[in-house]
Amino acid sequence: MEAAPGASVCPACAKPLLVRYALDGMDGPALIERWSRRLCDVGMWRFREILPIAPGETPVSLGEGATPLLALRGIDGLQGLRAYVKDEGRNPTGSFKDRGLSAAVTRAVLGGASSFVIPSAGNAGVSLAAYASRAGKRARVYLPEDTPEMVVRRTRAAGGEVRPVDGLITDCGAKAREYAARTEALDLSTLREPYRIEGKKTMMLEIVQALGWSAPDAIVYPTGGGTGLIGSWKALGELAAMGIAAATTRCYAVQADGCAPIVRAFGKGALAAEPWIGARTRAYGLRVPFGLGDSLILKALRESGGEALAVSDEESEAAAVELGKAGVSASVEGGATLAAALRLREEGKLVDGETVVLFNTAHALVY
Ligand SMILES: Cc1ncc(COP(=O)(O)O)c(C=O)c1O
Repeated sequence: MEAAPGASVCPACAKPLLVRYALDGMDGPALIERWSRRLCDVGMWRFREILPIAPGETPVSLGEGATPLLALRGIDGLQGLRAYVKDEGRNPTGSFKDRGLSAAVTRAVLGGASSFVIPSAGNAGVSLAAYASRAGKRARVYLPEDTPEMVVRRTRAAGGEVRPVDGLITDCGAKAREYAARTEALDLSTLREPYRIEGKKTMMLEIVQALGWSAPDAIVYPTGGGTGLIGSWKALGELAAMGIAAATTRCYAVQADGCAPIVRAFGKGALAAEPWIGARTRAYGLRVPFGLGDSLILKALRESGGEALAVSDEESEAAAVELGKAGVSASVEGGATLAAALRLREEGKLVDGETVVLFNTAHALVY
């Protein structure tokens, strides 16, 4: 389905729109060869055949993607696994948000958008500011008032117009929608347009490529709004449909124990999540009390044979230090994935010899 640049959610069910490609006609082995030949310096756009871009169109790019998949060695508790970190801190603005915003801004600019608005926990706002500036457009960013000063400064430095909000990201979302309704600004909120997922899915395409075109046994993903998890699951489905790799990966979502709507819903066997009241966590990217992607996340966890689990900020911070000692500059959210993997290993859910990928979604310095 071709969504108009201003399309937000499905008019019938108010759920997120997802991009579909004519995968039937695609030749998997030929694509593997083409993707392998393309240099990594074109970053995530080397997968353009299954990204929202037509031949001859030029993406709004700052060199996002092509981040390393690092083998993790010497972490107590993970011995016996083939454990890797997808190090997303290496992206242009220091987080995985760059992939989604490169895709979303590209499509929007090609569709004639003149300015943007976004609610953010921090990283998405910095990223949108950078990509909008790259395209010569304006961006307004609504941030919770207690967002670390570093994020506010980085957003402004990238050309973004910051609006602090007394509340959480959900309150920022309401402000962004209100602003978009009375101006020409396009709202790029998580899952209110279909293209950020497309950018995020390239993390999984790169992982499968780095593993010799085979999918990992498990991924552990720090889940807020869930675009990266939904994108990864979507990428696996597309690779399977093209006969490139079997979608056998178990997806594990990790949340902070002070804001764990998906964990609670998964535990109850629910199909959708209830908003989390009184969300508190120092992992700002995980402070998402409710998101539009709840049912898609829950579906990906169940269909893949994974689960959702919550860790404390203390566990995540300690694990981020462990990742640092292993040479990976990790955000608290990245630390959460290691804390969760250690728990899953202890519980026997990650077994000897399995290939497990943790997502370090941002650099340690972003906050
Ligand atoms: C560093 C970091 N990790 C994880 C997340 C959650 O990402 P997602 O929306 O894909 O669940 C965010 C979102 O703000 C983030 O900034």
